[in-house]
Amino acid sequence: MSNIEKDLTEQTPTKEEKKKVVALSKREDIIRIENLNFYYNKGKKQALFNINMNIKENSITTFIGPSGCGKSTLLRSINRMNDLVDGAVVDGDIFIYDQNVYDNGVDVAKLRTEVGMVFQKANPFPLSIWENVAYGPKTQGVKNVNVLNQIVQDSLTKAALWDEVKDILNSPALGLSGGQQQRLCIARAVAMHPKILLMDEPTSALDPIATLKVEELILELKKEYTIVMVTHSLTQATRISDMTGYFLDGSLIEYGRTKKIFTSPKDPRTEDYISGRYG
Ligand SMILES: Nc1ncnc2c1ncn2[C@@H]1O[C@H](COP(=O)(O)OP(=O)(O)O)[C@@H](O)[C@H]1O
Ligand SMILES: [Mg+2]
Repeated sequence: MSNIEKDLTEQTPTKEEKKKVVALSKREDIIRIENLNFYYNKGKKQALFNINMNIKENSITTFIGPSGCGKSTLLRSINRMNDLVDGAVVDGDIFIYDQNVYDNGVDVAKLRTEVGMVFQKANPFPLSIWENVAYGPKTQGVKNVNVLNQIVQDSLTKAALWDEVKDILNSPALGLSGGQQQRLCIARAVAMHPKILLMDEPTSALDPIATLKVEELILELKKEYTIVMVTHSLTQATRISDMTGYFLDGSLIEYGRTKKIFTSPKDPRTEDYISGRYG
């Protein structure tokens, strides 16, 4: 029985809730993390301990837990961003559909286009708004300006930024507000036609209004993409995610439907964390 089905038998959900849970349980697993251990410093520092986790398509999953518990490490393992860290060692498997991303011969550049990433601090290139979005497709060989224009418009529209920037596409991206820059980074990822978007505390540098805008955008993006995000905001996790994983000291303590995790967690450690008794 899957986590989701277990929830259904354990709770007596409202009709609305039940519909949501059934819809989620019917979706396919897009990411499967199996027995994943992760070490920094050539094995001297273990950061993740035997993580197992399945993630459904077109869902939003949040990773929560105290600072240093391995959330970013796990997120970066999904598109092999950790390969860039000297001395990092991975043991275990991550599948995206049937492809093991750690198989020899996997095209890591292609993997990172399929699994896009958005960081805590918006990091646009010091180029124009247009160039930021067109950059990726250009490196993939798209040269036709009309095609690039269309990609730029579509991506900015999906990132809920088009109306604000359509008249200033040639202006420097670094002149945008923080919230706009973050949505631009989302547009840049979207321009590569990813299947999955990883976001590491994407709103932690934003004010409350910009945060709500990005949250609305993430909810909208779920129709087309699968989103996995780290957040330190528990209210954000409850507002937007379908599934939540609680991490502590490199272990996945509890993983299930967000509603369940926040209303009736099984593990006392989860309970302590969500009720603010941690630390
Ligand atoms: N590049 C690195 N080299 C060595 N240790 C690291 C590196 N990045 C993270 N760590 C360590 O791995 C653990 C998990 O870190 P991280 O995944 O960043 O946690 P979180 O995102 O939950 O705050 C921490 O103890 C952290 O100090
Ligand atoms: Mg982190």
